[in-house]
Amino acid sequence: MKLTRALTPLAVALVASAAFTTQSLSAQSSGVYTAAQAKAGAAIFTAQCSMCHGDKLEGISGPALAGSDFMSKWSGQTVDDLRDIVTTQMPLTSPGSLKPAEVLSVLAYILQQNKYPAGDTALTAAKTKSVKIVKQG
Ligand code: HEC
Repeated sequence: MKLTRALTPLAVALVASAAFTTQSLSAQSSGVYTAAQAKAGAAIFTAQCSMCHGDKLEGISGPALAGSDFMSKWSGQTVDDLRDIVTTQMPLTSPGSLKPAEVLSVLAYILQQNKYPAGDTALTAAKTKSVKIVKQG
């Protein structure tokens, strides 16, 4: 009896934290960009990135930006980490030439190609910090 009573608050706390984790994970990966943003990103990607990263983001001279290798390399990091690289180092031929909104569009496209679902609100620089790179589906 005593044991049960002692364990109940613990069980409640565990259930509550499990629920919280599920909720925050889904908040981080579902609907974090808009379809329009990804479409704009696709155009930029085709013009400025696909010659090195591939039409399907499969990687050519540059590394793959979608698929299992990309996921395992970036798993656990956030879209803000990707944003840093794209902002300061890409495109490799003209680093730092994309405007902040263009970087966000390209990131939205990369998320879309990695099966993140589109939503009603656009990806913003602030939001990238809370979007974890995790395998979708
Ligand atoms: C001239 C070829 C070239 C172009 C154009 C180019 N990249 Fe890259 N990109 C690379 C190479 C090479 C690397 C690896 C650099 C390294 O590891 O130091 C890279 C790395 C990256 C990475 C980090 C990937 C990883 O797993 O380390 C991202 C993200 C990225 N590029 C995005 C872009 C985007 C977005 C564009 C278009 C705006 C772009 N790149 C244009 C060649 C290119």
